[in-house]
Amino acid sequence: MPGQLLPLFLSFELYYQAMTASAIEWLDGKLRILDQSRLPGEQIFAGLDNYHDVVLAIKEMRVRGAPAIGVAAAYGIALGASGIETANRDEFLGQLNQVMQAFAASRPTAVNLFQAINRMRQAARGDSVAEIKNSLINEAKRIHQEEITATSQLSQMGAELIKDGFSLLTHCNAGPLATAGYGTALGVIKAVKEQGKRVSVFATETRPLLQGARLTTWELRQEGIPVTLITDSMAGYFMQQRKIDCVIVGADRIAANGDVANKIGTYTLAVLAKENKIPFYVAAPASSIDISLSSGDKIPIEERSPEEVTHIQGVPIAPEGIGAANPAFDVTPHSYITAIITEKGIIKEPYGKELLNIAK
Ligand code: MRU
Repeated sequence: MPGQLLPLFLSFELYYQAMTASAIEWLDGKLRILDQSRLPGEQIFAGLDNYHDVVLAIKEMRVRGAPAIGVAAAYGIALGASGIETANRDEFLGQLNQVMQAFAASRPTAVNLFQAINRMRQAARGDSVAEIKNSLINEAKRIHQEEITATSQLSQMGAELIKDGFSLLTHCNAGPLATAGYGTALGVIKAVKEQGKRVSVFATETRPLLQGARLTTWELRQEGIPVTLITDSMAGYFMQQRKIDCVIVGADRIAANGDVANKIGTYTLAVLAKENKIPFYVAAPASSIDISLSSGDKIPIEERSPEEVTHIQGVPIAPEGIGAANPAFDVTPHSYITAIITEKGIIKEPYGKELLNIAK
């Protein structure tokens, strides 16, 4: 009997730990992440004690989601700084610059990464190397805390848009895992429930890497929010059947005119939503706004390995050697977006002036 109970007990322990621990934590001078590539099957926490491993974790999407990438990079830069051995200030700053460049080359689309790098660059001040190292750790903690606050605030605001009994559709994963905070699109959904309103969710599986199937359903189940998993190609059918009251997604980068880059397939959903007269909301913190780009066509779109399309979790699903394309994001023009929900307010067309104020 004890032999039978032990594995059950251990897996409950792991489950409980995963439910209560944050996806990203700075613990004893190291970065601890919940490995998102292994969820939901395995809940594995990895301790990263050098910046190379953090860069790799971002590239391999063990940490993913725009705000979480920014937070991980900030801590990764602090780690990289701690590992620089020279006491010479100029030499130190030269090596720190290389660390920052490694992060800048990790994933190109989420602007939160570049906002975090810029902030860390500004924070690299102090008379001595030791002071600068300290300042960088503090700035990374501040960036993390600000994301927690921003995602919590925007979620409360966004929840006001959702009526009791609504059925929502979301794409990819925009929950606590993706934000190192409260969540954006899933944060709004969580807040709706906390406000005492009933809500249910359709989650698209989100090929090729299945963030919807693997992560969104996992997070919603923990929150006790009813969720129905559908393949990406089913979204139009359920909209036509009037089963969906609104669509809500996150963002990787919002251009100055309100165009939004988000997980590949978001544009398709926005067009379907407009055709079916369903509101289409984007929830994102101010750190996802990039006012330096006038429109979405200037947003760099990450191309990932064709293997992610020809294989599912390592298993081939196409004839060997077949060509495949894998743009990881697409851009939804602002005219398809009913409102953008940020921690500084909910904004609608025309987006330009309001986005400028929010990004300040
Ligand atoms: O490639 P991913 O999984 O990092 O892409 C994530 C998304 O597209 C999310 O929707 C976006 O980052 C918003 S997360 C709050």
